Amino acid sequence: MSARWTPSSWQNSVAAQQPKWPDQNDLEQALKQISSYPPLVFAGEARSLLASLGQVASGNAFLLQAGDCAESFEEFTAVNIREKLRVILQMALVLTYSMGVPVVKVGRIAGQFAKPRSSDTEKIGGVELPSFRGHMVNDPAPHSESRVPDPQRLVQAYHQSASTLNLLRAFTKGGFADLNRVHAWNQEFVTTSAEGQRYEQVAGEVERALAFMRACGVDTENHSALHEVDFYTSHEALLLGYEESLTRQDSLTGNWYDCSAHMLWIGERTRQLDGAHIEFLRGVGNPVGCKIGPDTTTDFVLSLCEALNPSRIPGRLTLITRMGADKIESGLRPLLRAVRDAGHPVVWACDPMHANTFSATNGRKTRHFDDIIREITGFVLAHRAENTWPGGIHIELTGENVTECLGGAETVSQEDLDTRYETVCDPRLNARQSLDLAFRVAELIRAAK
Ligand code: PEP
Ligand code: CO
Repeated sequence: MSARWTPSSWQNSVAAQQPKWPDQNDLEQALKQISSYPPLVFAGEARSLLASLGQVASGNAFLLQAGDCAESFEEFTAVNIREKLRVILQMALVLTYSMGVPVVKVGRIAGQFAKPRSSDTEKIGGVELPSFRGHMVNDPAPHSESRVPDPQRLVQAYHQSASTLNLLRAFTKGGFADLNRVHAWNQEFVTTSAEGQRYEQVAGEVERALAFMRACGVDTENHSALHEVDFYTSHEALLLGYEESLTRQDSLTGNWYDCSAHMLWIGERTRQLDGAHIEFLRGVGNPVGCKIGPDTTTDFVLSLCEALNPSRIPGRLTLITRMGADKIESGLRPLLRAVRDAGHPVVWACDPMHANTFSATNGRKTRHFDDIIREITGFVLAHRAENTWPGGIHIELTGENVTECLGGAETVSQEDLDTRYETVCDPRLNARQSLDLAFRVAELIRAAK
């Protein structure tokens, strides 16, 4: 790791998982264009998120990070964005109401377009093709021409992120997220289900609490906290050229921020201590995350904390564990002890999705709701045993009624997977499964408190 950080110092280290762009000139032109565009987020917003995550690190708030595995250039509509926001708001309401702590809401949205892959090629219908690496890189259609990386896709990802963020800001500050509208967040296909009914009860209680406050003379009309929501964006900082092109110096503090999103994370496949991803993210002021898989050692985690958060700023670093339902409890405990004893103020978040993926009999990639709950349970139990705070969850979901993950109250079966399997990458929880999960998580954490 070089001593001096600059937005381009990552270029002196090895960057894993970068696409093989066919023409370096075209890539440079696209990146130059993005560098001239306005930032997508403001450094001050990243600092607000940092402060909120600081509250999570000290056990006074909970992180809900959720959204698509990969956003799509094709599924880019207002309805799609609204439904995703709606289910995240519902989950946050359930968690806040049941746990009695603020919920920090961060979407995997408005920039989550690039995917790391385990292999450079994949077989589709017996034909070997270069792997699909997310809409920001190539097209998923099963032809070798579609799979050629196209730098214009970086520019398109910027524009789609900007419009997505614009709509999110409108929804969260313009009335959609108003606590007086809690009933309207329940979608029709959810309302009739058991978890939808349970949500209606919570919404009814919130409504009564608001009426009670008004009756006591509290001016609920003029409390922005009741009408607006702080909703932050995040994605995996995978394509470092793109991230560098949106890295800007904050005029207030002089510090550098990656203004492509409020929070950035490093994936399981790119977290090499001497690699380019850690080098890049160590220098930006945003809150950052890093995925932690089943083979993680205490030495690695402590070095990671030193590399990404040497000043020990609470909320700066979120460790996102993804070890699998069977490994989490025993795998996590030594890490919790080591980080706690070293005095690093991290946020611990549980990604119960990525180590519980398997192929169904029809070949579809899927996950079982029960494994997801089992991994969160192990995560919470490990924290209880070590007296640390299970700070949050990191989930792949959609607001649509898809059939991509098995189980849940509606028991999606292997035969159902073909009905609505729409993800461009990993299988996501649908709106009902997501709401069900929020109730289960709230119960687990409450029991552990
Ligand atoms: C992801 O979050 O979609 C992902 C690829 O995760 P991981 O890096 O943990 O495998
Ligand atoms: Co994924």
